[in-house]
Amino acid sequence: MQPNPGPGKLIVMEGLDGSGTSTQAPRLAQWLRHRGLRVYVTREPTPGAAGVFIRPFLARRFALDGKTLAALFSADRLDHLYAPGGVADRLRAGEWVLMDRYYLSSFAYQALSLDAAELQWIDHLHAPCLIPDVTFFLDAPVRVCLDRIAAGRASHFEIFEREDILKRVRRNYLDVIVWLRQQRQQIQVVDGSRPIADVGADVRKRTRLLFDSNALPPVEQAALWER
Ligand code: TYD
Repeated sequence: MQPNPGPGKLIVMEGLDGSGTSTQAPRLAQWLRHRGLRVYVTREPTPGAAGVFIRPFLARRFALDGKTLAALFSADRLDHLYAPGGVADRLRAGEWVLMDRYYLSSFAYQALSLDAAELQWIDHLHAPCLIPDVTFFLDAPVRVCLDRIAAGRASHFEIFEREDILKRVRRNYLDVIVWLRQQRQQIQVVDGSRPIADVGADVRKRTRLLFDSNALPPVEQAALWER
């Protein structure tokens, strides 16, 4: 994977369906904007050229083989990053980019239907991806997530929104976090089961470290997060 070409920072929110990523991303953006930063909030799957193929699958309007789906998510991601005016251009121009889901989602969700060799292929597809400055994993019990989804949109559940599936997805997330941390990626696990304001305060407190770490060499930046 590739370093952020910024001066802008790349912040990612990850978690199970119902974990609160879509609630927290705009709140954090607002706080960053109050600090005078230019912030772009965006999400995957995108409404872009490859992303449009994914939504009908999630709504169960057609079935896709796991490899095809994984390739579509990767294509959507690369388009998200590298389309003209996309995430990479914005980071270069000094904008802070806040992403609701990114490649951890592929390793957690697409891993459900892929074997080890196929996962390695997915890893290769992600070679051009930009490494976030920090990824927040909002961790909440599956039951809490499902209750939130039911309360928010009682009419339907999307394809992955089932207790047995989300339990496996959560385990995949925790595994991939260990693996990415070994590659020195900065991933912060946040207790997402708390009230919205408490989770937000925790995320903001940790995001402050990005301001403090700006001028430090990478090893010292990593040490800051561990304090
Ligand atoms: P989500 O982000 O929860 O949006 P919404 O609230 O509109 O449903 O839904 C996206 C779904 O897509 C979610 O179940 C996770 C899944 N997904 C993957 O399987 N792989 C990926 O790479 C990404 C980005 C998402």
